[in-house]
Amino acid sequence: MIVWGVQRMATWLLHLMVDTTCLQCLWHTLAVMVPMYLILCLYRIWKENRALPPGPNGLPFVGYLPYINGDFHEELTALSRKHGPVFSLRLGSELMVVLSDHRIIREAFRREEFAFRPDNEFMKLLDGYGIINTEGKLWKEQRRFLHERLRHFGIKNMGAGREMMEARIMNEVEMFLQSLARQRTAPVEIGYYLSSAVSNVICSLLMSVRFRHDDPRFIRFMNLIDEGFRLFTITAVAGFIPILRFLPGFNYAYSKIRQNLGEISNFYQEIVDYHKSTFDPNNIRDVIDSYILEIQNAKEEGRQERLFDGKDGDRQMQQIIGDMFSAGSETVKTTLQWATLFAVREPQVQAKVQAELDRVVGRRRLPSLDDLPNLPYTEAVILEVMRRATAVPLGTTHCTSRTTQLNGHTVPKGTQVIPLIHAVHMDPTLWKDPEVFNPERFLNAEGQVVKPEFFIPFGVGRRMCLGDALARAELFLFFSSLLHVFSLQVPEGAELPGLRGQAGVTVSPENFKVCAVPRQIEVLSLETEAAIGG
Ligand code: HEM
Repeated sequence: MIVWGVQRMATWLLHLMVDTTCLQCLWHTLAVMVPMYLILCLYRIWKENRALPPGPNGLPFVGYLPYINGDFHEELTALSRKHGPVFSLRLGSELMVVLSDHRIIREAFRREEFAFRPDNEFMKLLDGYGIINTEGKLWKEQRRFLHERLRHFGIKNMGAGREMMEARIMNEVEMFLQSLARQRTAPVEIGYYLSSAVSNVICSLLMSVRFRHDDPRFIRFMNLIDEGFRLFTITAVAGFIPILRFLPGFNYAYSKIRQNLGEISNFYQEIVDYHKSTFDPNNIRDVIDSYILEIQNAKEEGRQERLFDGKDGDRQMQQIIGDMFSAGSETVKTTLQWATLFAVREPQVQAKVQAELDRVVGRRRLPSLDDLPNLPYTEAVILEVMRRATAVPLGTTHCTSRTTQLNGHTVPKGTQVIPLIHAVHMDPTLWKDPEVFNPERFLNAEGQVVKPEFFIPFGVGRRMCLGDALARAELFLFFSSLLHVFSLQVPEGAELPGLRGQAGVTVSPENFKVCAVPRQIEVLSLETEAAIGG
């Protein structure tokens, strides 16, 4: 048929050369060639799709997008139960592959070709700076550098700098508990106080800065970040259907994101400039100082051209602050909000944690990281919160750098790959009654903590969370101190907060209030007692 079509085309061209009015001949040829071309396209799509992981059918151009009506992670989990642990779907022009088996996620994410990020509009705005949205050589170098620096400051493996890190966290824990004590059992939205406390931990590690929760600069900064996340969700749709980029609403969202990024960058640059003006190579205070030292060393050793893969040092520092802050504050705050929610929903669990704390820590001090091995029930509760709530249900989207095979299927170059952590944590074949909040599932018969290999709240593989050790330390110190000092309960007459989450980049609980009733306020420092008139 193709040969015939080509022959007709050649004949028609010959005719055209000798007889330019051969219009009828042209129509005949087109009538054959156009359907032939469409059939060829369909055949190619069919051949490609046959090798892809199975998945739901969608509509032309928009793919499966119109069928997504609920929370994305819930919808994908339902689809994975139907189509299997590796399935594919098209969202607009983008091909996505969703992984919901922990072994397959591990197998994929230990491979280099799965360690890339999607090339979307947001990536273009960030221009290849930072760590979360970088790839290749710069990403590898930055990951190694940050890993080493975080270890130095005591957050990896809780090594040499552990006391320094613990002191930074405990400083914020005390401030947080003081703020609660000042409310004198009045109903409070705990997320409001957690927000500044948790942000201050990461700010102190990155740039030795701390904010009061009512500081207007902090409020503006948090609003910009919140708005950024919201606008990001709007523009993400344009990543799937590129034509939407020409609509005025999307243009507005893009220019607003650009404007906000500019304002945030100026704020970060002020901090970088302050660090440069007070820099002392013998006293490296935080991550920013470490970068300044690295830039100085590179200059002295004549390798500044190669540093950051030739990118601008100031912009890289700005984006590192942005990436670490956004990855390390909302996630921890959200998980702690869930922990509070489960504490009020499950009063017997709360009482058991408090009994263990009283027995191990006693009534004269706050818990410390040294207590952790002796507090298995408290640790199991935190692990169960992380499983049941899965604050980052979709991990972060990966992308393939070349066409590859996975579990017997073809995954083409440029496919977006989602590790569906939520589905792994709610898989009834791995967890008995996954809907039930049951900390005992993390304890063995001897009462020791056991973490199954399918518990993966921080992801796995090459792009696994860089801040897992810091996060675990923060969750333990904030949660155990909170329940040591206060008992939490819902305000009188109020309903128990529900389990329905608000899905964004993280899944956070809907707003709820609790009353923090003192149980042993005397463990707080004297300063606290003065502040609350004790
Ligand atoms: C409860 C708290 C946290 C949870 C549940 C969490 C979870 C995650 C997950 C699921 C990923 C994606 C892994 C992947 O792409 O496969 C990730 C990446 C990341 N996290 Fe966390 N995280 C938490 C806290 C933190 C903290 C405190 C920091 C900073 C100190 C941090 C820094 C990062 C960074 C930099 C990445 C990107 C790594 C890369 O792209 O190479 N996270 N996190």
